Amino acid sequence: TTVDVDDTDFQLDGYDNFMHKEMHEQPEAIRRALLGRLDERFSTARLGGINLDARALRAVRSVKFLGCGSAYYAGQIGANLVEELARLPADAEPASEFRYRNPVIDGDTLYVAVSQSGETADTLAAVRELQRKGGQVIGVVNVVGSAIARECGHGVLLHSGPEVSVASTKAVTSMSFSFALLALLLGRVRDLSVANGTRLVNGLAALPELLAEILATEDQIAKVADRFHEARGMFFIGRVRCWPAAREGAQKLKEISYVHAEAYQASELKHGPLALIDETMPSVVLVPDDELLAKNVGTIEQIKARGGPVIAVTNADLPAGLVDAEIRVPHATPELDPILLTIPLQLFAYHLALRLGRDIDKPRNLAKSVTVE
Ligand code: AGP
Repeated sequence: TTVDVDDTDFQLDGYDNFMHKEMHEQPEAIRRALLGRLDERFSTARLGGINLDARALRAVRSVKFLGCGSAYYAGQIGANLVEELARLPADAEPASEFRYRNPVIDGDTLYVAVSQSGETADTLAAVRELQRKGGQVIGVVNVVGSAIARECGHGVLLHSGPEVSVASTKAVTSMSFSFALLALLLGRVRDLSVANGTRLVNGLAALPELLAEILATEDQIAKVADRFHEARGMFFIGRVRCWPAAREGAQKLKEISYVHAEAYQASELKHGPLALIDETMPSVVLVPDDELLAKNVGTIEQIKARGGPVIAVTNADLPAGLVDAEIRVPHATPELDPILLTIPLQLFAYHLALRLGRDIDKPRNLAKSVTVE
């Protein structure tokens, strides 16, 4: 598949800024990333670009995702998906740390270098260090012909189309989506059953429609952002699957609104950060309708007991009166919830920044791609 880039890609098409346009392009970006990549017959994914046959896929003993900023957080979503679906040890690390710590390179590990631009200096340096030591690395990149895409040779192209806004939205969604495909592929050459493979294939195929449903609730999300725009700071709380999504939500808010935001694992709050909770410090809590629902309700009760306002982003039915504001998302295949729950966080950060009069596409002190150390 190829994506044609013409001048219209760099026009606003009636949107006020590129971030707004790019958030609304997400259903279409995912549709493109899906093209030819779902194999309904064998309930798996097709990723020809990674150039690994079934035998090579089975030889992989662990997976490590490397990227910077939001690409790193997407890598964490990827690592969780690989562990969950393929039952392989997997983790993510900032490429900027990896390159400086003289990492042990394991020949049975599949390294995944993640970058929208394909030009991030730290991620490129990590790839070169890996290759010098004989590590097996694939690239997951948006920009065709970029340095990381060329250096890796093999990998997955995101097909998100050009991303202009400094705050990455559609590309990070496509990254997480591509990692779900990779996890499905690794799972189906191992112990992931046909039935579970089919469930995931259907879940992935349904995502564009679900993303569109969330984008259609933008006005309600804008109202919530408006209500909380004077907060002195915010917590973003997630647990297990949704912890990296919470990190991405905090990143978006910091980046474009300049409001301090900190992501925390739900269960870690009581080990220190609860001391910061009061009526001026709202928490955005991600509450997927999964096996940890009761635990997340408990976390919300702990925050409320200390006077902290709670905004829940949820597809579960929460007890009446539990939270101060609710942002509803539709049900997805539970493993894919982190992809879905990230979308309202983008819209929330966007509307809060808009309310504060920030320069949305060009936040202060930041560049679209960081090509220096
Ligand atoms: C995302 O909103 C940020 N602008 C930033 O963290 C970005 O994801 C990071 O710099 C990595 O960029 P890349 O994907 O082009 O490598």
